[in-house]
Parts: sequence; C-alpha cells; structure tokens
Amino acid sequence: MPLLTDRFGRVHDYIRISVTDRCNLRCVYCMPEEGMTFLPHEKVLSKDEIIDFMKIMVGYGIKKVRITGGEPLLRTDIVDIIAGLSAIPEIEDIAVTTNAMYLVKKAEALKEAGLTRVNISLDSLQEDRFKTITRGGRLQKVLDGIAKAEEVGFFPIKLNVVLIKGQNDDEILDFLEFTRDKDINIRFIEYMPIGHAGDSWKKQYLSLQTIFDACDEAGFAYQPVDSIRGNGPSENFRLEGAKGTFGLIHPVSSHFCASCNRLRLTADGYIKACLYWDEEMNIRPLIKDPEKLMELVQQSIDNKPESHEMAIALQDEMQSHKPTTRRMSQIGG
Ligand code: 5AD
Ligand code: SF4
Repeated sequence: MPLLTDRFGRVHDYIRISVTDRCNLRCVYCMPEEGMTFLPHEKVLSKDEIIDFMKIMVGYGIKKVRITGGEPLLRTDIVDIIAGLSAIPEIEDIAVTTNAMYLVKKAEALKEAGLTRVNISLDSLQEDRFKTITRGGRLQKVLDGIAKAEEVGFFPIKLNVVLIKGQNDDEILDFLEFTRDKDINIRFIEYMPIGHAGDSWKKQYLSLQTIFDACDEAGFAYQPVDSIRGNGPSENFRLEGAKGTFGLIHPVSSHFCASCNRLRLTADGYIKACLYWDEEMNIRPLIKDPEKLMELVQQSIDNKPESHEMAIALQDEMQSHKPTTRRMSQIGG
C-alpha cells in the first residue's frame, strides 16, 4: 500500500505549509478587521525546521508543496525557504499562494530560488471594491504582480476569486473576460465557513452554480478542459476561443473531499489532515526524531474524516467532529 494512505484509500502526496499567520491585508472572508493576535516569533517554525521536516516527508511520498500564510511573502527568509525546498530532489512542484502586494519586488528572486508557480488572490477588478474586500489593498499592485509573474515565467498563473454575495458576484463576467486573451486560470472559490461560521457567512455564500448561470445568461459558450498542472480539487473550463481557463472549487456545495490528497502544516508546526476539523498534531518537537514524527503524521491521517460536511453546516446540522477554531489565515487555506 502506498505510504500516507488513509482509511478511505486517499494517498497523500501534497502538503500545504503555512509559513506565517500574519498578513498585510484583512480580507473580509479571512480575518477580522481588528483584534487578531498573531503568533510570537519564537512560535513560528524556522526555515531550517521547515526544510528538515520536508526532508523527512519526501521519504514518505510527499512530492508537491504549496507555501501559504497569512501572506507568505512577508517572511523575510521566504526566498531561502523556497531555495531550501527546491534543493530537495523528490519535490516536483513548489507553489505559493500570495496576495501579490510584494510580488513585483520578489518574483525574480523566487523564480531563481526554484519556485514553479503562484496563485494570486484577486476578488475584484474594481479598485474601490478591491480595497473594501481586502480592507486596504491596492488593485494596481496585484495587476502589476500578475504581469511580473508572467514576465518571469511562472506557469500556470492562477487567480483565486472567492465569490461573495453582494460584493463581487456581479463581476463574474468581467473575470471570465479576463481569460479571453491571457493564459491564466481564474478559480472561483465558494466562500467557506472556516473558523467563524456565522450569519455573515450564510448571508454571503453563493454556490458556484452562479457561475454557470451567469455564463448561460450572457450566452457565453464554454467547454470542460482536462488537466491543468496542480489543479487539485478544481474543475476547469474554457470560454470558446479563450486563451485562459476558469475553474470552480466547491468545498461547500459539491463533493470535494473524496479525492483529497493533502496535508497541512500550520505556521506553529501542527499537522492538520483536514482543513475543516479541529484535530491537529504538534510535530515541532519531533523534527529531530523522524520515526516518531512519521508515526504522528500517520496517526493524523488515520483520524482524517471522510468529508468535512460543510454542506451539512449549511443546514445548521454540525455532526461528529468539532469544526476548527483556527481562522483561514492561521491554516493557510
Ligand atoms: N473561503 C474561501 N476561500 C478562502 N480563502 C481564505 N479564506 C477563505 C474563505 N473563508 C482563500 C482565498 C484566498 C486564499 C489565500 O485563501 O482563496 O485567495
Ligand atoms: Fe491576507 Fe490572504 Fe487572508 Fe487576504 S486571504 S487577509 S491576503 S491571508
């Protein structure tokens, strides 16, 4: 049996590593405007700890890494982290999820260090709205970041759009238009009730059927496309004649867990086998003890639930496990 397999036969070859819980923005679906407390510096895994941990994990079949945050480019040693990971031969793919505020500045060094690709958060193409959703971000910086990412050759470039009722659902067609002459992948993501499931989430959640409805209404023809590198849980489509593609990630309304191949490592060194549930294992004290560390990782995989039941949460009927109390910025999405 392949390594890191769970009770449901899911093989884990992918890890998302959050390298910081801090962020220079406060996206409405991710963090509150004020009152966040962040991990003190000494609680955050060091570059060497992250790299040593990954040297162990590749021996058990992990091949793909995504660096997340908070905002990963806030780490002053982010280029060294990427360089250290890219020196591990078994790692085939290293990606970063970023808000792109520092991408223009760092893209070249990241590319040289071995970063293969980037996902960029972009929830509105309108300056004022972008500022409202991110609570202070500048749209132009993201657009410049995207241009820079293209220039240095990150590929594929993916843009994450969290669909929020009343805030950006009237921009679906604009986002789709964006794919016509740019070879990028726009990923519409359902708003997830992570760490703060409450009334505001319920009022703002939209299922991704909204995207198809918008296409149909506008008479936009689209076709499914096969594989996009690193496409994970997203289904992908292309508008007729478009260079780029669009994808849908529906963690809430559709079956998303059945093919889950991922583990998560929080910035303070806890393994989470499921984004949604609160179970987590502290691997930090075991980085110098690979065998014990792997026992703990496997235990976490053994306890991984079959599905996160967000769809059930939708109907106010939480079952079995407790949902996580960490916010998205503390897990890394
Ligand atoms: N729902 C959906 N996606 C989220 N992200 C953060 N919080 C949420 C949420 N509540 C994702 C966004 C963002 C990335 C950093 O994390 O896609 O682009
Ligand atoms: Fe920061 Fe990303 Fe969360 Fe926005 S979604 S607050 S950019 S970590």
